Amino acid sequence: MVAAVRVHKTGGPEVLTYEDIDIPAPGPGQVRLRQRAAGVNFVDTYFRAGMYPSPVGMPFVSGNEGAGEVIAVGPGVTDLKVGDRVGYVVPLGAYAAERLLPAERAVKLPAGISYEQAAAAMLKGMTVCYLVRRTFPVKKGDTILVHAAAGGIGLIASQWANALGATVIGTVGTKEKAELARANGCHHTILYRDEDFVARVKEITKGALCDVVYDGVGKTTFPASLDCIRPLGMFVSFGSASGPIEAFNINLLQFKGSLFATRPTLNHYGAKREDLLALADETFAMVAGGKVKIPINQTYPLKDAAKAHRDLESRATTGASILLT
Ligand SMILES: NC(=O)c1ccc[n+]([C@@H]2O[C@H](COP(=O)([O-])OP(=O)(O)OC[C@H]3O[C@@H](n4cnc5c(N)ncnc54)[C@H](OP(=O)(O)O)[C@@H]3O)[C@@H](O)[C@H]2O)c1
Repeated sequence: MVAAVRVHKTGGPEVLTYEDIDIPAPGPGQVRLRQRAAGVNFVDTYFRAGMYPSPVGMPFVSGNEGAGEVIAVGPGVTDLKVGDRVGYVVPLGAYAAERLLPAERAVKLPAGISYEQAAAAMLKGMTVCYLVRRTFPVKKGDTILVHAAAGGIGLIASQWANALGATVIGTVGTKEKAELARANGCHHTILYRDEDFVARVKEITKGALCDVVYDGVGKTTFPASLDCIRPLGMFVSFGSASGPIEAFNINLLQFKGSLFATRPTLNHYGAKREDLLALADETFAMVAGGKVKIPINQTYPLKDAAKAHRDLESRATTGASILLT
């Protein structure tokens, strides 16, 4: 039996149940991991609340990102062995002391990447990688807007885009978060709970607006985000921290400047093994080269997963949160 955090019935953070579960021996193509750390992500709250259906039915072990050591290898697994250090992103199963993992989703960790860093970089770092390098490849001279710039994704995105030579504008909820975002690559910050962020973007860019807006906030920043984008620029809606965006008339994109809009997810950008490994390599290289630091600002024991969710959903966190498994 191993410790895990399961959801038997969807709902608020109180449905996260700390209990012992059985893990069978690894089947064909699987490895068994002794986990060291699991990332805490907004997507974990979507599954917990039932906004995303569980692909494995009920009950399910929460968590979508983690890292640990291979302790057993199933039939047919040739490229992993006991003792290998790996990280991963897969739907569910991460909030546990041990787990089974499809070997083809495991990424070997370079020596310089700790389990804790990997538990925050596999989902958040690789997401930023595809957002700034694939969805809208940010280049020197671009001006970008990152919503929730002091969050898990936000602090990594701000650093990475800054390293690419962009002018980075970040929205944040508090003055303390503004300071942190500026220390992590934002050139300008906007207190979007108090200030009109569209007016401030116009002022900061002297009317030129942004080449791209990265929006993981969703409901409360839409459609105002579209008014921050120059004609032919791109709206990247990658999350719903404040709730999902309502259906809208596509003609809106014409009136706002022949804009491009996309709603991407890491599941597709990293679906093929070669793409997954390319995203991981690029992310690890940014971290190893010191251009991107993975800011782990909250660490909890596994049994406190409900507190971790409460803190994340109440906007009390900055950077990444992890559970020590
Ligand atoms: N599509 C993908 O591939 C992908 C992958 C990973 C994450 N995501 C998305 O990226 C976003 C950020 O994820 P994260 O895990 O790094 O979280 P996070 O940014 O650390 O936390 C969310 C932040 O959103 C802001 N926010 C604004 N309105 C909010 C509200 N009503 N309730 C809660 N927070 C609110 C808060 O910052 P302020 O206080 O500064 O406003 C909060 O700290 C999420 O939407 C997530 O779903 C998408």
